[in-house]
Amino acid sequence: MHKQAMTSLNDFAEQKLAALDAMDLRRQTIVTARGAAQSARRDGRDGISFSCNDYLGLSQHPAVKAAGIKAIQDYGAGAGASQLVTGHHPLLQELEQKITRFKGTDAAAIFGSGYLTNMGSIPVFAGEGDLILLDELSHSCLFTGAQLSNAAGLTFRHNDMDHLNALLADHRKAHRNALIVTEGVFSMDGDLAPLERIGDLARHYEAWLMVDDSHGVGVTGGGKGSAGNIPVRMGTFSKALGSYGGYIAADQPVIDLIKNRCRSLIYTTALPPASAAAAIAALDIITDDPGLCAEPNRKARLFADQVCLPQPAAAIVPIILGTPERALKASRALAEQGFLVTAIRPPTVPDGTARLRIAFSAAHRDEDVLALAGAIRKLARI
Ligand SMILES: Cc1ncc(COP(=O)(O)O)c(C=O)c1O
Repeated sequence: MHKQAMTSLNDFAEQKLAALDAMDLRRQTIVTARGAAQSARRDGRDGISFSCNDYLGLSQHPAVKAAGIKAIQDYGAGAGASQLVTGHHPLLQELEQKITRFKGTDAAAIFGSGYLTNMGSIPVFAGEGDLILLDELSHSCLFTGAQLSNAAGLTFRHNDMDHLNALLADHRKAHRNALIVTEGVFSMDGDLAPLERIGDLARHYEAWLMVDDSHGVGVTGGGKGSAGNIPVRMGTFSKALGSYGGYIAADQPVIDLIKNRCRSLIYTTALPPASAAAAIAALDIITDDPGLCAEPNRKARLFADQVCLPQPAAAIVPIILGTPERALKASRALAEQGFLVTAIRPPTVPDGTARLRIAFSAAHRDEDVLALAGAIRKLARI
């Protein structure tokens, strides 16, 4: 009986995988060792990664690494319990205070990851009888949070304010509360949300606004990230800040409610001390050095110039190739020349828009950026 069940589960998995294979959509993990200047060793070969979100190279910064090592020595490897039990260690408190000051809010809550932040906090703000409006290109964890909330969920066309306005006009009144959710810098396209106009619509229709600025912090606004009248400011320590963990910065009652109701904060072990310490050190570096924060965008612009693409607004440049097959082929051709540029395929991006997503970092050398541009220009001729 048990054996039969195992066989049928394996059959089920194999059939699903075969279907993914047939569409060039099967994914796999590949061992990759990362080092300084975005170097990456894979399959025994050294290359340069243009797929990491380590926009400032801080995951490899000596002060960030030293802070993590010291935290383990001082407090141990793990937090030991939820932050509502005994896991709210001194570094977590310090990180809360630091991100509060950095974002200019009253308070902040720290989560185990950006995914946990969005997945857990959206259901705190909205439930049955409420309305959530999401930009259609919002990250998977924003959709997951909206689905878990049991609120009515609608998507508006990417950055299309007329569409958002029309949806609010048609649906807002029938719901108790409304939450608009978008990203400051879109993770797969690198463009910015029109936050001022979204803020105006939010005010007009009495809706709340939550902005996921995972790809903005450390890169836009002189490092401070996206600006505007944003009651719920979400971000992650895992990208430009080079560490791990997520946060929401907001007014005190909002943060107090999260700490009382958010399942992905309450029922999970707190962020480890080393991750908190590394994030604190990274926040200090970017606060002291706004020049560093301008570098990822400068590199992205240098690249875009070379390949005749429009000037990027942040550190991400997509090269849309259409089919998964084309994206995989281009990615493999670049890997052969020592450039790691992962093919991004549906469902991460919409059907028909498989792409190379190129992420630039302050840690990239200009010569590597120019060499990648040369390789891409050659690819285009194939
Ligand atoms: C826009 C956006 N939000 C949230 C996340 C999740 O953050 P984390 O990697 O810290 O879980 C990511 C990253 O994958 C992201 O791109």
